[in-house]
Amino acid sequence: MLLKNTRVNPRIDEHESQVISETGYLNRRQLLKGTLAAAALPAFARAQSPTYSTTEPLTSEYSVTHYNNFYEFALSKDGPARLAKDFQPLPWQVTIDGEVEKPLILDFADILKKMQIVERIYRLRCVEAWSMVIPWQGFELRELLALAKPTSKGKYVRFETLHDPKRLPGQKRGALGFFSLDWPYVEGLRIDEAMHPLTLMATGVFGKPLPGQNGAPLRLLIPWKYGFKSIKSVVRISLVEKPPLNTWQQSAPNEYGFYANVNPQVAHPRWSQASERRIIDESFFGTKRIDTQLFNGYGEFVAELYRGMDLTRNY
Ligand code: MTE
Repeated sequence: MLLKNTRVNPRIDEHESQVISETGYLNRRQLLKGTLAAAALPAFARAQSPTYSTTEPLTSEYSVTHYNNFYEFALSKDGPARLAKDFQPLPWQVTIDGEVEKPLILDFADILKKMQIVERIYRLRCVEAWSMVIPWQGFELRELLALAKPTSKGKYVRFETLHDPKRLPGQKRGALGFFSLDWPYVEGLRIDEAMHPLTLMATGVFGKPLPGQNGAPLRLLIPWKYGFKSIKSVVRISLVEKPPLNTWQQSAPNEYGFYANVNPQVAHPRWSQASERRIIDESFFGTKRIDTQLFNGYGEFVAELYRGMDLTRNY
């Protein structure tokens, strides 16, 4: 395998090839048929940055695809898998606009052709204090942003999920009972967070195209932040001057902020964030309680982004 990164840990390398063969990389010819299939195909000839992947045991594919948060489908954990069963993501377009030299509307198929697909095994830590270890396929967001040439006024990036109540039934008025959010779901990052090589747009999981419940056909992943920042089924990416108001901050500003960096020392007003329930699989003994790490364990890569900032105030 050709590796750009010189800090390769052979253990990680070995682990990654194992994941790949388990998840169908060997069936490349089959996978190459069709756009969605290509979404899950890592470009191994140009594989890179394996040091970003964890070697912790993977969460089972069943748990990753049947224990979800996706309020556009349902509030329950098992609802999104059931209700997204027939979700047809393609054709799909993504708009990149705002403070850019070259606003773009890109077809998902073209995005796949232009981007380098890599495999990353990331921890996902939900603000609700559960976590998983998930093998994703996708590309670095910075590669996509570069196509639109952000200007110096683009200090933040705003993301929007598809707004289509016919296809995302949770967006229908009253669909979630007394609970509601302002649709579309919105998230935001500072430009340096968005340009960080850990920040990924996922197009596949477990070597297969992303299923609807995990945010088909493409969703954001910022592994050092609480899971709600990892917005699903993205249709619009806008470079903006001011911090965008993200959905959860708008809904409960005393509980959720803009940064949402994983931090065991800053409790949620209603529960501690000091530990988490790691989900391994769906069996009775399939979870374990572990300590939560600052920046979800990615501090060596991202702590410098927040130097001098009060992480208690900027929660
Ligand atoms: N994106 C949208 N559009 N809608 C959502 O409800 N839930 C978030 C995030 N992205 C959510 C979303 C939350 S709270 C989490 S923890 C993760 O998606 C869960 O991702 P997963 O279901 O793939 O594990």
